[in-house]
Amino acid sequence: MQFADFWYIVALSDQLKPNTVLARSLLGEWLAIFRAEDGQAVALRDRCLHRNSRLSAGKVCRGALQCSYHGWIYDRNGNVIAVPAEGDSFKPSQQRRAKCYATKEQDGYIYVRLADDLSEDFHPFSMPHYQEPGWETVRVINRFANNVTNCVENFIDIPHTAFVHPGIFRTSRQQKLEMIVERCNGSVLVEYRNETSNLGWYSRFLNEQGVEIKHSDRFYMPNITCVEYKMGDNRHLFITSQSIPETENSTLVYTDVTYNYGIWNKLARPFVRWTAQHIIQQDVKILGIQGETIAKYGTQFYHTPADTIHVFVESIRDAIARGENPRQLPHQSVKVTFWV
Ligand code: FES
Ligand SMILES: [Fe+2]
Repeated sequence: MQFADFWYIVALSDQLKPNTVLARSLLGEWLAIFRAEDGQAVALRDRCLHRNSRLSAGKVCRGALQCSYHGWIYDRNGNVIAVPAEGDSFKPSQQRRAKCYATKEQDGYIYVRLADDLSEDFHPFSMPHYQEPGWETVRVINRFANNVTNCVENFIDIPHTAFVHPGIFRTSRQQKLEMIVERCNGSVLVEYRNETSNLGWYSRFLNEQGVEIKHSDRFYMPNITCVEYKMGDNRHLFITSQSIPETENSTLVYTDVTYNYGIWNKLARPFVRWTAQHIIQQDVKILGIQGETIAKYGTQFYHTPADTIHVFVESIRDAIARGENPRQLPHQSVKVTFWV
């Protein structure tokens, strides 16, 4: 198994309009992405075979991509179908073919997979309750100057919230919390206990009756985190993030906040968007600082019991980096006490 076996978001469906081409970076590979005539997304290596200009600087006409340097035209499979300088003597040839990657479109996202030689056939992650009646989704995109491992760890890390997001998300009260952390089948599942309303300035709205909070965090290999809060029937929230490795220290994160706040669903939208963006910008800043320090001194972490989630996440991502199957790691379940 390798990172290239998985599907990664490269664009929102809405971003890829007909007759446009987008430039993307994925696991260090450059991609030119456009739509074929039937609307299907096409992903080619972003490099013209002729004199190596970038195809993403070109233009799309009737579902084919024309390089902006000497006008070579590529079809949806990467085949060169016209070379202006060859005039009528042009002949198509199997040799002239740009590298082409598999694409899929699901839940309003366009996905690309880089590997064509697969150890396993994965599927894009299914975004919880996306476009289901009674649910609203607010979608935001942010770039982090850090790697995927540190991003996903941040998204399911409680202890930082009182420091990075004071007041807005959680206030430091030295409250004792318990969590059960489980590693199984390439995933990390965390269930929290004893959590009462300490969700910053909108706890009143989220948990007006002060009922018990159901909170779980999940990591799914190789790059997905899902945070779920449930406080009664009409206060149910999922924050799902897909962290896309652009390069070793640049990660583009697509976050869906999908919620069911009953009659407040529509009214809450601008408020949910503002809050999500505000919180994520605080994480962008701290992860940028961490990324810089790691670039200088390398990664050398000092774990506490509260970091058990991260240790499990790292064990899974390290296994993939070694080409192994993380599903074969032993099933482990740990009960941890910590304070926030
Ligand atoms: S470099 Fe693309 S056509 Fe010449
Ligand atoms: Fe955070």
